[in-house]
Amino acid sequence: MPDRKPYVGGNWKMNTTSDSSTSLARGVCEACEAAQGAVDVVVFPPSPYLIGVASIFKSRPSAIRVGAQDLYHEAEGAFTGEVSVGMGADCGCEHALAGHSERRHVIGESDELINAKVKAMLAGGLTCVLCVGELLEEREAGKTNEVNERQLRTGLADVGLRQMENVVIAYEPVWAIGTGKTASPEDAQAAHEFIRGLLVELYNDDVANRTRIIYGGSVKPSNAATLFAQPDIDGGLIGGASLKVDDFAAIVKAASGA
Ligand code: PGA
Repeated sequence: MPDRKPYVGGNWKMNTTSDSSTSLARGVCEACEAAQGAVDVVVFPPSPYLIGVASIFKSRPSAIRVGAQDLYHEAEGAFTGEVSVGMGADCGCEHALAGHSERRHVIGESDELINAKVKAMLAGGLTCVLCVGELLEEREAGKTNEVNERQLRTGLADVGLRQMENVVIAYEPVWAIGTGKTASPEDAQAAHEFIRGLLVELYNDDVANRTRIIYGGSVKPSNAATLFAQPDIDGGLIGGASLKVDDFAAIVKAASGA
């Protein structure tokens, strides 16, 4: 990973309770202590638990950061059920996911809505993890690059060169998420290389070289090191395994190269 600090995110999705989110955060804090300097470690708890989890990391103090799984692009007003970027930041978030495949395919978010969210997150001073990735039928139809290109071009529309310092791209093939099926290191590398090439076209070599592109989709302690050893894979976005302290810590350790 030349000059790029590895990034490992733990996406807790709609899991945990008030109590279990607290104990998971404490466990992650202790277990990831050694690798913290070498890896950007960020956990994404459900929004009701953001404040509690953020306060645990603050009280340590710990280098682990807290992120939101999703935030809405409007600043305030009549948007029942939504959480704004300002509210997320107020709860201790420094990072946020945009366009996770479950938001795209379960909730039905469009590329345009995701772009609005990306821009609002960046304008609000957050680091935005823009998630992209193809469905199984799209991969089988040979459309992997086409889908990633569309999601990236629209997702990053009107995002300036300087703002790219606060963007992380997560490549998450939808068929690999929560299924136990991981992309082979070669397939994942090919997609990451394609995405980096697109960043050259959309921005320049420097932006492409600096931007972290992380892989998500059934990353486990047993496959993390091989995936992270690929030249264009700069860490991971971890779902299921982020709910188990030991597994998450082993993945963070793999990203640190230790
Ligand atoms: P998974 O989820 O690790 O459970 O496959 C990854 C993700 O959705 O970010």
